Amino acid sequence: MTDENLYNIRMRASAGGNHLSGAERIVCAENIDEIARGLLARSRSKESFPDQVTIHIERLQDQPIRYLTALNVLTIRVSDMHSGRDAAARILEYAGVSGLAATKALTLLSAGASPSGKAMRGAIIMDAGSGERLEPDQERGVRASRFDWTGEAFATVDSRLTALSLAHHRTREALSLATKVAHAPAVVAELCWSDDPDYIAGYVASLPTGYVRIPVLKQSQDPKGGRVIFVDPAVLNLASLINYLETDPVLINAVGEINKEMSLPFYFELLAQR
Ligand code: COA
Ligand code: AMP
Repeated sequence: MTDENLYNIRMRASAGGNHLSGAERIVCAENIDEIARGLLARSRSKESFPDQVTIHIERLQDQPIRYLTALNVLTIRVSDMHSGRDAAARILEYAGVSGLAATKALTLLSAGASPSGKAMRGAIIMDAGSGERLEPDQERGVRASRFDWTGEAFATVDSRLTALSLAHHRTREALSLATKVAHAPAVVAELCWSDDPDYIAGYVASLPTGYVRIPVLKQSQDPKGGRVIFVDPAVLNLASLINYLETDPVLINAVGEINKEMSLPFYFELLAQR
């Protein structure tokens, strides 16, 4: 894959004005047709049929690609939503988020973080110390885009996640998004759980902790969810952060460790040994 020959393909599907699904890839010219067909098939795979599907195919002109190694992955064993959220708060604090900001983020995501009460269209940007919200539009948030795996890394991560029964494309895509976000300037950590009522898992991700999957972060059928990107205000340039997240192309060309499920105390012991 040469950098001059790369295209970003983005798909989004909506029905009745509501976002249904979205996904994106970075591919070379000769693979555009096949990948675009796959994304189109994906747009129809949800229960409610879209009334609008948009596919953007865009050459990554003159933009240098940043190559990254994926964050290490592990799953923390939790018994219910409460122990899941408690684990999320403790891992965020290990990554450098204050207790105040972690609590504020968990409260916002569980209550619905947009002023209208609908799911935000992107992530909250939050001061990791004070918990202040910094994203310019609280209804929209900020969306990470222009990231993917190289072909070889894709095959490796797919088979290693599948071996741990994490074959769903959601995990692979969330890991690539979290890897791009964790390497952004001024980012301390990220917290996410989906607004999909059927999907109750989520994660905390950061450079020091890796991608920590938490199998239960909400009750089944709860439509609330979202993402919070915690930043260090001492080194933050908000415009450059948003520019990096939205437009700088990132390809993940190496896979980190992918570990089995473990208890929270055992995970903290492992971190202490590093
Ligand atoms: N939720 C709600 N609305 C969304 C949305 C989302 N996640 N993504 C896009 N939209 C709608 C919004 O109305 C948006 O307008 P806005 O910018 O005012 O919010 C409009 O579509 C156009 O969005 P845009 O991002 O410009 O579209 P795009 O076609 O360039 O890219 C995506 C769309 C969905 C591919 C891209 O935004 C994205 O999220 N990429 C990452 C996908 C991914 O891998 N996610 C992993 C999740 S685990
Ligand atoms: P999902 O994991 O797709 O269910 O998304 C969970 C939440 O993350 C959504 O409710 C949005 O608030 C936010 N979000 C969706 N797409 C993005 C993105 N590309 N970048 C950052 N945040 C996003």
